[in-house]
Amino acid sequence: MAKKKLNEKPWGGRFKGGADPEVEAFTASVDFDRELAEFDIEQSRAHAAMLQSCGLISKKDLKEIVSGLKAIGSEIKSGKFEFRSELEDVHMNVETRLAELIGPAAGKLHTARSRNDQVATDMRLYIRAATGEITRAIRGAQDALAARAAEHADDVMPGYTHLQRAQAVPLGHHLMAYYHMLERDAGRFADCAARMDALPLGAGALAGSALPVNPAMTAAALGFSATAPNSMDAVSDRDFLLEFLSACAVCMIHLSRACEEFILWMTSEFGFVDLPDALCTGSSIMPQKKNPDVAELIRGKSGRVVGSLVSLLVTMKGLPLAYNRDMQEDKEPAFDAARTTAACLRLYAKLISGAKFNTAAMEKAAQTGFLNAVDLTDYLALRGMPFREAHSVVGRLVRHCIDAGKEFGDLTDEEFAAFSPMFGSDVRKALDARAAMGRRKAPGAASPASVRGQLKKFHRNKNGGK
Ligand code: ARG
Repeated sequence: MAKKKLNEKPWGGRFKGGADPEVEAFTASVDFDRELAEFDIEQSRAHAAMLQSCGLISKKDLKEIVSGLKAIGSEIKSGKFEFRSELEDVHMNVETRLAELIGPAAGKLHTARSRNDQVATDMRLYIRAATGEITRAIRGAQDALAARAAEHADDVMPGYTHLQRAQAVPLGHHLMAYYHMLERDAGRFADCAARMDALPLGAGALAGSALPVNPAMTAAALGFSATAPNSMDAVSDRDFLLEFLSACAVCMIHLSRACEEFILWMTSEFGFVDLPDALCTGSSIMPQKKNPDVAELIRGKSGRVVGSLVSLLVTMKGLPLAYNRDMQEDKEPAFDAARTTAACLRLYAKLISGAKFNTAAMEKAAQTGFLNAVDLTDYLALRGMPFREAHSVVGRLVRHCIDAGKEFGDLTDEEFAAFSPMFGSDVRKALDARAAMGRRKAPGAASPASVRGQLKKFHRNKNGGK
């Protein structure tokens, strides 16, 4: 196989001199789009097979192309491949190397193809793989949440609104809230994958090919269920990336909220959780410190993923049809968001699995602050008092307790009766947090039975998946 280093650009014929070196560096994308190499090779293999079956290249050409691509794949895997920025992008790097290795047959590979449909295809293949990886990471985080929710279905904690103690809820219910968010995230990634399931290859630069090609064959080989219905849309559509980035951004916002809670809960003010040492770091000056850095970084990285979405939205905003070089700017945000989201999901799963919940502190916190005020209101409403009136009676009771420095449980039967004759001695049962949680029978309500029901209904079985 030839080893001569080739430098000629394919468009050399049209140009007089060489490129300005600063322009060469400015336009080159190979430093980041090399991440597409394996997909570029996969695509080229399928494209070459299609060209051969349509009689556009010979069997011998195909054999050489396939073996050359295979050699390039191994060179890349072993780190021996020399990516050269003067060759601009990953596509030209692979094609040039192919020419070095197999000679003239390499020049036939680009028949009926442009880098515009090539890069659109590579990016779809990349996003398809990334979506798979992220979905697996989501399932991992859900498994962790489900396991902890099952463990803590009966444990009481204060549920908050406005970050003020509101009503007692099972810790398992709180954890399952994130389970459902992640379920919708998985749905968003699946929707994105389903919508981008059309092969752009065959669209050429923008107008498709006049050669007797068979893009459906390439689509089947690359696992797409359809070919793109419009060549101009095919090369200029980046919706699939915007959808992917948007799914990443929403998912990261969920993780950020969850991590924000862990950060709060780990303060000595809350003392609700202790995160494993392996997921925390110390301070270079304060020997006593154990900081929730992983949780903080997940929260921090959500900003960067949202930034990636915004960056591509703005890049696409003013672009006329069809391909424009601006679109090269789609890669770094997409790659970064894919990597960041997958990594954050995996680490979040570790946080969940390793968290030591201080259920005693949670239960204690649920006992003060009138978290049972709604239960008391329900008690009166059940005995026929209009809800608004019950709300006002209990409101006055709260005022009384605050003034007297008491909780509801400290009040005597007489004190209760002074606020309404409807209060009987059974009122104490209404005040107990566990009993109150147990009474919540409405669908999705915060009760231990509901946590178990959610796990049963929504959590896929451990061995299989849904
Ligand atoms: N590196 C380019 C990109 O990522 C590949 C497509 C180049 N096409 C072109 N007409 N210059 O968008």
